[in-house]
Amino acid sequence: MHAALSLVGDDLKNVELQFRKDLESDVYLIRKVGEYVLASGGKRIRPMLLLLSAKLCGYQGDRHVPLASVIEFIHTATLLHDDVVDNATLRRGNASANEVWGNEASVLVGDFLFSKSFSLMVEAGDLRILKVISGATTIIAEGEVLQLLCTSDLEMTQERYIEVVKSKTAVLLSAACEAGAILGTSSAEQQEALRDFGMDLGIAFQLMDDTLDYTASEEQFGKEIGHDLEEGKITLPLIHTLMKCSDEERETIAAVVEKEILEPGDFESVFTLVHKYGGIEYTVSVANEYIARCKAHLGAFVDSQEKAALIELADYVVNRKR
Ligand code: IPE
Ligand code: IPE
Ligand code: MG
Ligand code: MG
Repeated sequence: MHAALSLVGDDLKNVELQFRKDLESDVYLIRKVGEYVLASGGKRIRPMLLLLSAKLCGYQGDRHVPLASVIEFIHTATLLHDDVVDNATLRRGNASANEVWGNEASVLVGDFLFSKSFSLMVEAGDLRILKVISGATTIIAEGEVLQLLCTSDLEMTQERYIEVVKSKTAVLLSAACEAGAILGTSSAEQQEALRDFGMDLGIAFQLMDDTLDYTASEEQFGKEIGHDLEEGKITLPLIHTLMKCSDEERETIAAVVEKEILEPGDFESVFTLVHKYGGIEYTVSVANEYIARCKAHLGAFVDSQEKAALIELADYVVNRKR
């Protein structure tokens, strides 16, 4: 991400300062939980996308930093809620907020971050951006509910899986890019190109996250490995395996998916099957297809440093380890 950081590194530092300011509240626990999560790092992909998109479209004003902060606020709110729903204990290499302060605090502080995001957007005063980002948050909520309905469903298809991934994850990356396009000067075609770039990038991003859930080291990933399986989340590596395996192997997988808490050897037995049927390679190849598609959308722009940085970011998504 060197090119991206050299272009928007200073803005990103200001985004960090902006978070701190936006977190101010008389209620101590809000600052405490909010700062804990925001200070624990995170790749800041979404604010980076907004800043780079705005710059690509020639934006030179001062509203990009507060809006990039809003995008990360919304992301943080979804993580607080997502970790409660997923029973996660680890986030960004630290105990997750629900583990430290409990589910109640995580849900309520997540609500604060959502509400605050909307106040900040209204303050920024661009109705078109408000429309894009508020639309995105509604779809994220739908995506998380859709995913809940798909829990432990061995009939899950790749098509439905991609629908969930678009909604729960890709829509926010897409909105970040589109908001940047709206801030700057862009044609309708360019705005659409950035929206589509973010969507395809976001799909690849989640596909890689689901791959890393099987293959990463917990230390690098900063989240628990095998957690999707434990939670009954049927992601693409497993969907592909289920399509290919024998009836007997399917029974093995079904038994593990049904369990509330995995026992030693459960993850390994499923991972062996995923490995046997090439579920990881397949998922990575699909992610690579989306990355190729997302880069192609940038054909709507002439070459520039910003465009090169977005392309570098796209390559990073399929090579990341965390
Ligand atoms: C985590 O997003 C949630 C997913 C959509 C997979 P990130 O991987 O961007 O999380 P941070 O912000 O870098 O921790
Ligand atoms: C993330 O999906 C989607 C949202 C946060 C809305 P995951 O559940 O796969 O993300 P991680 O793995 O917990 O980061
Ligand atoms: Mg999760
Ligand atoms: Mg995940």
